[in-house]
Amino acid sequence: MTNSTAIKRPLGANDTPARIAVTCALAGPALDLLRTVAEVEVPDADRPLSADELRSLVAGADAVVVTVHDKVDRELLDAAGPALKIVANVAVGYDNVDVAACADRGLVVTNTPGVLTDATADLAIGLLMSVTRRLAEGDRMLRAGTSWSFRLDFLLGCGMQGKTLGIVGLGQIGRAVAQRARAFGMKVAYTGERASNEVEQSLAARYVSMDALLREADFVSLHCPLTPQTSHLMDAAAFDRMKPTAFLVNTSRGPIVDESALADALEAGAIAGAALDVFEEEPRVEPRLLAMDNVVLAPHLGSATLETRTEMAVLAARNVVSVLTGSGALTPISS
Ligand code: DGY
Repeated sequence: MTNSTAIKRPLGANDTPARIAVTCALAGPALDLLRTVAEVEVPDADRPLSADELRSLVAGADAVVVTVHDKVDRELLDAAGPALKIVANVAVGYDNVDVAACADRGLVVTNTPGVLTDATADLAIGLLMSVTRRLAEGDRMLRAGTSWSFRLDFLLGCGMQGKTLGIVGLGQIGRAVAQRARAFGMKVAYTGERASNEVEQSLAARYVSMDALLREADFVSLHCPLTPQTSHLMDAAAFDRMKPTAFLVNTSRGPIVDESALADALEAGAIAGAALDVFEEEPRVEPRLLAMDNVVLAPHLGSATLETRTEMAVLAARNVVSVLTGSGALTPISS
């Protein structure tokens, strides 16, 4: 008896079953989905793969599923070979993928927009609260057994109501942060490629230049993608423009901030504090930042809820299945 609803398994090179190389731990439902159309190879490693390991994993694959620290460059694509049809990035940011090189080879590249918007926006606000209300500092104090008692002037932070949040990059995540900021009673200014009337009305957000944003904002939150133009966007000159009472939050990509310039600015009191979820050379963190009480650090947790990471993995898997079965990508990236 044939099952007419079963997905037809595509064939890979030499009429062998298609093969999908997955570089990272992927939620079960996503793996199950991938296995409906192909053999799936997932390395048994709890760390990012080395370039050599990546090359040997992807050799001969029809599809590769990668994530933020897997560099997909011409060399890796050469190692994959002619059977490759799709690179599915399990992340919304895709600075790890050479999209032009993929386009040259006619490959589809996909990412996972939308499904991680709320989780990342929540974390940006959480980091902002943590650094402005000195939560991590207080937690460290208690764990160190430091003696304390309630005092009216003890560990005073900075309130959010009535303050201006400056959002750099008003894409889906930037907008979700703006909504949350409005709910906390903040004023919202934003900068980016262009102003949007619709955003200005629905979020009561004001478009300003980058220079004005740095000068006016009490809190600066980064939500732009990493590109050659945004690399080290937050450099010494940018920190000089910020208010000495201002805080920086980064949940986008580490290299947008010059970490050494940030540490200099914090040491000099040019800004009041920073909360970072991403770093220039992950997993390394600038050692001077590790020692600062007015810095809150998280290990790239923006999308790290069980629900969100599962949705990201499933969306990547759906992209792969759709491309391998000839229906086209659901969330393609164009170069
Ligand atoms: C992304 O999606 O770009 C995050 O950095 C990982 O969730």
